[in-house]
Order: sequence, then C-alpha cells, then structure tokens
Amino acid sequence: MCGIIGIVGESPVQDRLIESLKRLEYRGYDSAGIAGCVDGQVERRRAKGKIRALEEVLASEPLNAKVGIGHTRWATHGAPSETNAHPHKAGRVTLVHNGIIENYAELRDSLTRRGRTFESETDTEVIAHLLDCELEKKPPIEAMKATLDQLTGAYAIGVLIEGEDALVMGARRGSPLVVGYGDGEMFIGSDALAVGPFTNRIAYLDEGDFVAIDHKTARIFDETGQPVQRPVRTVAASAALVEKGNYRHFMEKEIHDQPDACQHTLSAYIDPTTGKVQAPGGVDLAAFDRIQIVACGTASYAGSIARYLFERLAGLPCDVEVASEFRYRQPAVSPKTLAIAVSQSGETADTLAALRWCKQQGLTTAAVVNVHESTMAREADVLFPTHAGPEIGVASTKAFTSQVAALMALAVAAAAARGRIDAMEEKRLSKLLLEAPRLLADAAQLEDEIRALAPELAKARDVLYLGRGALFPLALEGALKLKEISYIHAEGYAAGELKHGPIALIDEATPVIVIAPSDPLFEKTVSNMSEVAARGGPIILITDTEGAKNAPANARVIVGPTCDPFLHPLVYAPPIQLLAYYVAVQKGADVDQPRNLAKSVTVE
Ligand code: AGP
Repeated sequence: MCGIIGIVGESPVQDRLIESLKRLEYRGYDSAGIAGCVDGQVERRRAKGKIRALEEVLASEPLNAKVGIGHTRWATHGAPSETNAHPHKAGRVTLVHNGIIENYAELRDSLTRRGRTFESETDTEVIAHLLDCELEKKPPIEAMKATLDQLTGAYAIGVLIEGEDALVMGARRGSPLVVGYGDGEMFIGSDALAVGPFTNRIAYLDEGDFVAIDHKTARIFDETGQPVQRPVRTVAASAALVEKGNYRHFMEKEIHDQPDACQHTLSAYIDPTTGKVQAPGGVDLAAFDRIQIVACGTASYAGSIARYLFERLAGLPCDVEVASEFRYRQPAVSPKTLAIAVSQSGETADTLAALRWCKQQGLTTAAVVNVHESTMAREADVLFPTHAGPEIGVASTKAFTSQVAALMALAVAAAAARGRIDAMEEKRLSKLLLEAPRLLADAAQLEDEIRALAPELAKARDVLYLGRGALFPLALEGALKLKEISYIHAEGYAAGELKHGPIALIDEATPVIVIAPSDPLFEKTVSNMSEVAARGGPIILITDTEGAKNAPANARVIVGPTCDPFLHPLVYAPPIQLLAYYVAVQKGADVDQPRNLAKSVTVE
C-alpha cells in the first residue's frame, strides 16, 4: 500500500514530509519522493529504495517549500525506480497516488494521441496528464471533478498545482484518505498515522469524496461535486495505526479496508504492465503434481475457494483440510506435493503443526500469511504474503479476502506455469483480478441495504447459507461469520445438497441466505430456492443484476456488482460480512471481541 502525505504549512515542510513518510514505512514500499512549491514552481525529489536514500538526495538538494506532498511507493505498474517513483509531473500538475487505475491503458493511448508524452511506466502519470488537460479549461475544483469522472479503479491521490501556491488537493475511491486540521496548517494523509505527528484532529473522507485544503480550511466535495461536511474527530495519534476511523467497530473498518488490502496483496503477485502472474519467492509451480492446503476456520474456506481454481484453471489436484484433522491423520502425500498453510496470524497451533509435519515429510512448504514475521512465515520454505495490514477484529474479513486474492493469483500463476492457459488468458485473468479492489469497494456500498435486513434476521434462531461451486465455501464463511459474532446458529451448505437432509429444517422461521450471482450454475440454484420457497422459508438472495431478474417472488434481493464469475467468491464476500456485522450490532453483541474466541489460537 503506497503512503500519502500532503501539507499546506506555515513553515518549511521538507522534514515533516519525511517524518510522515517514515511513519508510513510499515505499509511496505520500494521508493519514495516528495514535491513542494518553491517560488511559484513545483520541484520534486525522488529516490529508489528506502527513505534514507531520499534523505541523501535532499541533503545535497534541499526542498525549500512550505507546501508539499510526499509518497512511499509499493510498485504496481512499472518496476521500482526513480523514474517510476512518485510524485509524477505533467505540466502544472504534480501528483501522488495509491491504488490502481484500471483504465490507464486506454487513457494513456488517448492522451498520447493528444500529443502527451509519458516519462514513467506508471498508471499514476495518466491522472497527472488528465488533470493538467482539464486545468487548461477549468479552475482546480472543476478540473479535479472532471478528472475523477474519467477514472476507473480504486485510488487515493494527493495533488499540487503550479500557480496555486497554498493548495493541496486530494481524492479517494476505494483507498482511504484523511484530512488533518492543524493550527494555521492543514494536512492530507493516507491514514491517521501519516498526519499523526502534526495533528490529532482528523476527518475521514467518504467514498468518492475529493478535497481542497489551504492554510485554514478543507473544502470537501462528494462524488457529484456537491460541497459536503465530514465530521472532525480527535484521535489518539499513538493509536492511529489501529484506529477505527469513522467506524463503530474494527470489523466494519476492516470490511471497508478490503479494496486496499486486496490491491496491496495482488501487487505482490501481478505485474499489471505485462499481465504476468508469478508466485513470489521464485517458486516453480510447474514442479508440483498436487497441492495440499492446510488451515483453520476462515483461512480454510479461503483454501477451499482456491481448490476450485487450482483444479479448474491449472488442472492441479488440490486437497484442502482443516489443520486440526490433517496433523493427526497421517495422510498419504506424494513427494511432488506443494503444501500451503494459510493463516492470518501465522501462529495458529494446528496449522503450524500441519506445516511442520509436511516439512518433515520432505515436502516443499509455503505459507500464505499476513503477519510476515510470524513463525509460519519464517518456517515455511517460501512466504506467499498477504498485505491486509493489522487485522484487529476477531472475525476475519480483510485477511480472508486477501488470502482469496493471493490464492486466486497463485492459481492463475500455476495455470500459466503448467501451460494450461496462454499468455492472453493469463493477461485477461490478471486484468480481472486488478478490477477486484474497485468491485470490493462497490460491494461494500451495499451497507445500507444490508443493515435494513438485520432487525428481522436478528430474531432468527437458525440461518442457512447456500452457494454452489466456489461460492459454497463462501456460504460456509458466511455462516461462520454469523455464528461467531451474533451467536445465531448458522450452517453453510452446497445448494445442491439441501434436499439430502437440511431441507427438513426449512420453515417460516429459518431464513435461507443464497449467494448466487449469475453464472452457469445459476439456474440450478433457482431450483433450490424454489424448494425453499415451497416450504415457506424466507429467502435473502445476494446476486447481481442479471440474477435479480430470476429471483423467486418472495425473496429479499441484494444486488451486488456485476463481474466475471471468476471474481464472485472474492467480490461477494463483503455483503455476507456486512450481514453478520449488522445482525451482531442489532443484537448488541461485542462485535470485535466475541465471547469465547481469540484472534490467534495458539493452543490445540
Ligand atoms: C475467523 O473469523 C476466525 N476468527 C477464525 O476462524 C480464524 O480464521 C482461524 O482461527 C484461523 O486463524 P489464522 O488465519 O490466524 O490461522
């Protein structure tokens, strides 16, 4: 995740930009840069590598500016280099960016046709050019709105404009951005921690908002360009890293963190410029004839989703087992098996024991882990990282979708390595994956509709979740989420399995939640919903626009984003997480620390 800071200051900002960037180092980065207004001109300093390298540049060429922006870059489009480092410059515009601009190739082509030339390989540079073009016709606020209207993707940006010496602009969609209120000085930052050294009065921008700050004010606009107010809160700067922002619970915040977490995770696997997908650590996925996934709870459902993809896309047999069973079962494993432990914490005792057992058998071991200093990350032969950032809520949300994203990318990488897909298909699938952050942000926008279902659902004693194919494990995950935070009994079933037993449970008091965006199996799920409807079971159908057309008459329908079915298990996670969340809130449960549960289970 790239880090962003912007300051409209009364005194020189160079050292403060650097101080803030150092605070953002935890997000991971491979280059850094700052820019500032000096005598009506914008100057920038950039360096590949650590902030220390940028400081060396600044030692010989200080930046004597009172207004500036800074950035730590985690490479996505284009290798880590000084040229690709932010800020990027086009005409009057100097800009930093976190996220992915999905339509950058089209925008770049059209800008090139208009005579614009690019110096970097980044998607970011197109935003700078677009805004510069708009500024030829419009004042900054209107130009910003017109620019944002042309972008597809999930992003946060910070901007300086030459000739506007006391102005920093920012915008967010999918990736967070905060505004910091100082004393005669104002700030923007990618999180509260970025502005933490300077102020503890913070406003969180909403999805689609953009902002213009000067020395004293922040003018905030919503995505339609209407001026809006966002509440200013006082936060404890020291706690900013694990701050809830405007959210009531960490779980809610973490649901909304998912576009960023997913994007950051995918950037470790996909080169968006070439569309190539690779396993980190130089692992040759063609060298294995089987995959064995071991994990617990939510992480095991991420593994179960991956099984569909490893087998379907890569033709690679894949077993998934809960680690607590696997470790004692003495399973028969073939020597060319890649054992993958999936774990947020990297410390779960059963998963760790299963991983160690696989190692003892001489298997190559990998760990899909979020805490990179954890025991599993250290003991596995290779780390397949997720970059979800710290997950505080006991109920896993962003760690889950980051695991799914990483495993999806690995399945594509395995398919390419094994010659099961050609370069064009690899590119198509990687492009789809890079759309996931935006789609996750869209899915989280269903919050209000989902909240409206909570009062009724909170009365239920039992709830069933149904899904087919790779959405079956998502049904299991939905049921687990509801159980663990609302204490309502819930079970997930493969939709086709309903008639083999669970249908006996259906009555007017047993809601059935069906996760079924339209795909080749949708018609079959419609039949299953009819079976439920015929027995008076209340149905909540989570689907897409196409699926909604075929919803049973009595179903409550939640319409999520339309996307390729490949992405469904990822993109349809936020609605089921939000559903569990709002039911738990409705019941007054302790959402972030549910009874009897621990975040990391280090005992058997
Ligand atoms: C998820 O909501 C749970 N709290 C739990 O199932 C969790 O996923 C499981 O304990 C595994 O934890 P890990 O990912 O840290 O290994």
